[in-house]
Amino acid sequence: MRTERLAADSQGIARAASLLRSGRLVAFGTETVYGLGADATNAQAVASIFAAKRRPRFNPLICHYASAAAAFTDVTANALANELAGRFWPGPLTLVLPRRAESRVATLTTAGLASLAVRVPREPAAQALLEATARPLAAPSANRSGRMSPTTAAHVLAELDGCIAAVLDSGPACVGVESTVLDLTGSHPILLRPGGLEIEDIMTLTGPLGAPQPGDAVRAPGMLASHYAPLLPMRLDTDRVGPEEALLAFGPAVPGAAITFQLSSARDLTEAAARLFAGLRALDEEGTRLGLARIAVMPVPARGLGRAIVDRLIHAAAPRPDSEPK
Ligand code: TXA
Ligand code: MG
Repeated sequence: MRTERLAADSQGIARAASLLRSGRLVAFGTETVYGLGADATNAQAVASIFAAKRRPRFNPLICHYASAAAAFTDVTANALANELAGRFWPGPLTLVLPRRAESRVATLTTAGLASLAVRVPREPAAQALLEATARPLAAPSANRSGRMSPTTAAHVLAELDGCIAAVLDSGPACVGVESTVLDLTGSHPILLRPGGLEIEDIMTLTGPLGAPQPGDAVRAPGMLASHYAPLLPMRLDTDRVGPEEALLAFGPAVPGAAITFQLSSARDLTEAAARLFAGLRALDEEGTRLGLARIAVMPVPARGLGRAIVDRLIHAAAPRPDSEPK
């Protein structure tokens, strides 16, 4: 299959919408990362997302909508959901809510759960695509399962060229880390994934957030230990590097690495989040080519967007399933 490269103009958006409506897969840019979209009401189309990503079927997908009103036709919103949506949508926030019995979203989308994750993205091209498609779009990040999320159309093509119908190129994703995921199905909101919306902002409305309990597989099915992983091993929180290492720097780079990628020399967390996945990809590619041993990462503070960055780094550094002793 040839993957069409579509510009994010009216013609490209119309083509992308028509492919999606006929059950094909189209990757598209959002403000967080690129998503791999399918018509969420078409079970076959949703099944092909799992196939293209090689994603385990127990890991549910987020549904994207053009507006909160559209999202709340598929889930039951409580008062807090309405408040959060009014304040932060469109934007990098995903809400997990009880799925409505009359929702036409395919059950495979939610991996059979009684809840559904919904989000209204801010990126104008994604908004236009959702309007033109007039269907909820199921869209996980457009990478192979377990790998780093794509923040450009080129990243998407590096892994999925020939496996999907098209990619809608809206330029680099400006936030750079995935949405913050909140579970609102219980009596108290639970943070399932720190992300592009700072929890300090969320907590001004919600108060303190709960955390998923260890082993709470039903609540956070996608939070597998190894995730967002480059090919090279990773070493975190370092203040020393050697010539066999690639360095992911935050602030003035410690000397001695073979190659360095600077997340933000001014230690700006917004800039660092936007550059995180591109940096990991660049070091992984160049470091592998040079035969380096690993990627060493300087400390990043776990506040604001730094929480999402540290979360992604810890997952990227976790032992890989295929490297564990048999
Ligand atoms: O920014 C984002 O959220 C991007 C863009 C494309 O919107 N999407 C994204 O999707 O990151 P994905 O599939 O890579 O991550 C979705 C996360 C997974 O960890 C999944 O397990 C969780 O959300 N999730 C989805 N539905 C859920 C549900 N009903 N209950 C609990 N967790 C859910
Ligand atoms: Mg993902």
